[in-house]
Amino acid sequence: MNTEELMQIALDMVGFSEIPGDSTIYVRGKDIKRVLFGVDLGVPELVMAHNLGYDCCLAHHPQGGRAFAKYFEVLWKHKPLLMNAGVPERLAEEAVSPLVETARITNQSRNLYHAPSVAERLGMPYLNIHNPLDELGRRIMDQTVRNSVDKSGTVQDVVNALMGLEEFERATTEIMIPVGRLDNGAGKVVVAHGAGTNGGYSVAKAYFDHGIGTVIYIHINPGDLKRLQEYGKGNLVITGHIASDMVGINPYLKELRKRGITVDELDRDPGLQGT
Ligand SMILES: [Fe+2]
Ligand SMILES: [Fe+2]
Repeated sequence: MNTEELMQIALDMVGFSEIPGDSTIYVRGKDIKRVLFGVDLGVPELVMAHNLGYDCCLAHHPQGGRAFAKYFEVLWKHKPLLMNAGVPERLAEEAVSPLVETARITNQSRNLYHAPSVAERLGMPYLNIHNPLDELGRRIMDQTVRNSVDKSGTVQDVVNALMGLEEFERATTEIMIPVGRLDNGAGKVVVAHGAGTNGGYSVAKAYFDHGIGTVIYIHINPGDLKRLQEYGKGNLVITGHIASDMVGINPYLKELRKRGITVDELDRDPGLQGT
């Protein structure tokens, strides 16, 4: 298998026709049989993989190059998610714009070619697959909640549904409800994931202002959370970053193994050992 095929398998699993801005092949390679996967896989792990004889390194989170430079494009994916939930286009755009602008400015301070240049020097095929696997995870989480929580369901029912997924059931992290309460009615539920990162204050507020009762984020920064707590509307469910990322990553790694690739994993929750 080559690096292009590794990427294509992920794109095919979600029906994407092009590689999103936050994913890229840094160093191309072929005849790949042993892959080292890490949610975060940068310079130290590249050196380790080289020393251990792996023939490809696969990261989830962006590690440089185009995946840094074009990362902001993926944040716009919050816009159709908001519109699907009933937020008018102009307001959806206003909610997402601050995230995009922050990402574009932050990116100007970053060293885009550090890890990719190390991989190149080592001759190590190297890629990251971010949004396709987050989108896969979003669909699985969304379907899981839809399958077992009806209109009269509570936030507790939403949490129970998510706990039916092994990644949450066996995770070291816990699902948190930092805004709202477990015994509240869940109302309409949105899984706001698969768009680069969480939508912070502005995106959650737009959902709550337009009839969504429960927003699911995989993580949030404390500053944005404080503002949402002060706003005091709706229920916010935080499912835990790596456990949630693994919901989309696991089916993809399973698919690679099915095709005969050996995949060893870093960043695996000890709770999921042996699965
Ligand atoms: Fe992710
Ligand atoms: Fe992540």
